[in-house]
Amino acid sequence: MTNGTQAPGSAGLRERLIVALDQPDLKSALQHVDRIGESVLWYKVGLQLFFAAGREAVLALAGRQKRVMLDLKLHDIPATVEKAIRSLEGLPISLLTVHASGGPEMLKSAAAAARTLAGTPRVLGVTMLTSLEGTEIPPLWNPMTGVEEKVLALAAACEEAGVDGVVASPREIHSLRVTYPSPFLIVTPGIRGPNDPAHDQKRTLSLPEAFARGADYVVVGRPILESNDPHGVVAAYDAALAAALTSERTNA
Ligand code: C5P
Repeated sequence: MTNGTQAPGSAGLRERLIVALDQPDLKSALQHVDRIGESVLWYKVGLQLFFAAGREAVLALAGRQKRVMLDLKLHDIPATVEKAIRSLEGLPISLLTVHASGGPEMLKSAAAAARTLAGTPRVLGVTMLTSLEGTEIPPLWNPMTGVEEKVLALAAACEEAGVDGVVASPREIHSLRVTYPSPFLIVTPGIRGPNDPAHDQKRTLSLPEAFARGADYVVVGRPILESNDPHGVVAAYDAALAAALTSERTNA
């Protein structure tokens, strides 16, 4: 690993892989969790599961000794975001997302509200959705700058506001890591192996490449949940990562 981020060895993958539990109800979500078992520590509860099962989903995961990233991508006026985050009191959440484009005051309010919660979840600013590319990038965003510049500008807003890190596509990790060393967090969805269907993701890379560029955590959903052998997919990630590390050491 070349950029100051500790390489996840095979025990480390468990600490750094977040499975996106995008499921329609708590029952099916927990079936996945129980089927995957001990090899995964972290789960991401997003809009679909939170709207279906809310606090119960977070508590059920914590009851299984799992860590939770609550990915609600909050984007509202500062006071509303602050009060929404304060309403999460009592939930064991480790990571929480807001949209970095919500502006400096919103980001500051989010960071301050998270610090009032027991357990002090770390706040991440979502930079640009990994599903956006080319003409899909909203026209309101400055057309004179490229994706990487936009992501770096959003990361700067997060850092200045005291937010703990960002969610960004694997393509931007390297420049983010150069500008924002650890402990500023980089969490990366858009993970796809060469043989995985991309679904709606555009700016993708494989899991070993994302870690090699300096991601702290990677988020993977459908490639694991839609597999007949989710445990096997996680084991394959572990093996691919070990192979990448071995080849890096051999070439060093
Ligand atoms: O199934 P897949 O691996 O594409 O899931 C990626 C997860 O990461 C989804 O839950 C999605 O909401 C989330 N995400 C993303 N891009 C972002 C932020 C979050 O894909 N920029």
